[in-house]
Amino acid sequence: MKTLIVANWKMNPSSQKEAVALFNAVKKGVAKAKNEVVICPPFIYLPFLKGLTLGAQNVFSKEKGAFTGEISPLMLKDLKVKYVIVGHSESRRVLQETDEIINKKLKAVLEAGLKPILCVGENENQEKSQVIETQLQEGLQGISSAKAKSIIVAYEPIWAIGTGKNCSIEETMTSILMIKSALTKLYSRVVANRVKILYGGSVDSKDASSYLAENFIDGLLIGGASLNAKEFVKIVSGT
Ligand code: PGA
Repeated sequence: MKTLIVANWKMNPSSQKEAVALFNAVKKGVAKAKNEVVICPPFIYLPFLKGLTLGAQNVFSKEKGAFTGEISPLMLKDLKVKYVIVGHSESRRVLQETDEIINKKLKAVLEAGLKPILCVGENENQEKSQVIETQLQEGLQGISSAKAKSIIVAYEPIWAIGTGKNCSIEETMTSILMIKSALTKLYSRVVANRVKILYGGSVDSKDASSYLAENFIDGLLIGGASLNAKEFVKIVSGT
């Protein structure tokens, strides 16, 4: 399985000029990389970035209509976007997204033929297995096995995001096994083995390769380190 490295730029950078410069520097640096690279910039930069696979950081659950301020999966598809991050912990927390909202978004993304990257993960006060199980069970409600196979799950413990405290390989593996077991319960072992699972949370070029060396980790979701082209290229090329 090809390794997937996803850059989540979050609400950065603050100008189109900087966005294009960052994108082009990354594009140049990863030209020969074997890993699949996906860049998720803020929506408004999407039309200006060409030559690498694009993802969006969020989406609305309807195709079109009276939903002020929202962006639909069809609009993203029209811009050649392939992936959509759904249920990032910042959207869950800051935008108050519930598992029910996330479920609707997942369905809309799948319906449009895009690939959702569903983020799950606990904060420091929560019980990991319970959070993982609930977020998957409620997030994936009503989604068929056939569709579930094209979902990517990103394990992102909230305490590791943007804190510099990345999750140990051992704990990441334990969490991934919990994700696989929840998916087996909801669907089957076949589906659980088909769903790609990424890790995200304070990954930089020093520790990226140790995650990628693990068979069960299919890729990485990179926030802060993806805003530095050199650093991100190092992560992608495993150097
Ligand atoms: P981080 O963010 O790499 O800055 O911790 C990861 C994410 O939020 O996806």
